[in-house]
Amino acid sequence: SKKPVRVAVTGAAGQIGYALLFRIASGEMLGKDQPVILQLLEIPDEKAQNALKGVIMELEDCAFPLLAGIEAHSDPMTAFKDTDYALLVGSRPRGPGMERAELLAVNGAIFIGQGKALNAVASRNVKVLVVGNPANTNAYIAMKSAPDLPAKNFTAMLRLDHNRAASQLAAKTGMAVSDIEKLTVWGNHSPTMYADYRFATIGGESVKGLINDETWNRETFLPTVGKRGAAIIAARGLSSAASAANAAIDHMRDWALGSNGKWVTMGIPSDGSYGIPKDVMFGFPVTTENGEYKIVQGLDIDAFSQECINKTLKELTDEQAGVAHLL
Ligand code: NAI
Repeated sequence: SKKPVRVAVTGAAGQIGYALLFRIASGEMLGKDQPVILQLLEIPDEKAQNALKGVIMELEDCAFPLLAGIEAHSDPMTAFKDTDYALLVGSRPRGPGMERAELLAVNGAIFIGQGKALNAVASRNVKVLVVGNPANTNAYIAMKSAPDLPAKNFTAMLRLDHNRAASQLAAKTGMAVSDIEKLTVWGNHSPTMYADYRFATIGGESVKGLINDETWNRETFLPTVGKRGAAIIAARGLSSAASAANAAIDHMRDWALGSNGKWVTMGIPSDGSYGIPKDVMFGFPVTTENGEYKIVQGLDIDAFSQECINKTLKELTDEQAGVAHLL
């Protein structure tokens, strides 16, 4: 049987953690033949550490055959030791009356510390996914704080936006969500993201052709996908957790095991493709194979798409400028 791999998860006692850990331990992320050791990080606060103990008791009570070990940590320097996969979920949410600059600064401190810890102790091949918001900028900060690790090992989660878009398109066309190919979401995980179905097919047919309604695209589809997170908070009183955990599983599974030629969306440091400046942590269409992602090249960007991409890029470069003094 395979040697266990180490999976670190931060914010492990939070909402997303609770929807995520059991699925990692059951083999849904890395395969039903891959044993895992969970290295769980929470803040040192007694309440959080106690909650983490409770989650660990439940993990034990599942008796997962693939769960080869569970560790509780309060320090990233021990939590990330030799880790092969790191899911950075924990972050500080925006409190009441908190300014944007303050939010960036508080999270800046967290992700500088975690980036440095990954740099010092993680596997040199660690695959990092940042879920905690602002996800793209937090991933950028962690990447910049880990100069000894390849920049391409740092990614941000755009997959929830991708999955939300796929689901809206399946509903609109009356087709199966699993038949959608060549969909992508460009840019930031924020309402400025640009969900782009111009190249998408469903059961081999053009989605744009099937829908044939540009007004629906601009006035219904894009705002629905862009504001879905807020709609869920309004309905549930809590932010999306199970769907976010599901997207994290999808992102890591496809990265590790391959997307079999299918396009998926990942937030990755730009290599300059599509005029996105190098290192900006940007949602791109990618295919994945042998543990590596590759940006889908050569797509035509029309005037409306360029406008949307410019807007989400501007937001990201502003965020990046807002944290530059911390790095
Ligand atoms: P939550 O508040 O239920 O849990 C977060 C947990 O992280 C808490 O237990 C907290 O103690 C812990 N934490 C905070 N700072 C930490 C640190 N420095 N180290 C380790 N743990 C730390 O929040 P929830 O619902 O689980 O969401 C987590 C994050 O994911 C939020 O930032 C949220 O905005 C973001 N999110 C991102 C999505 C995406 O698509 N990228 C989608 C949904 C949520």
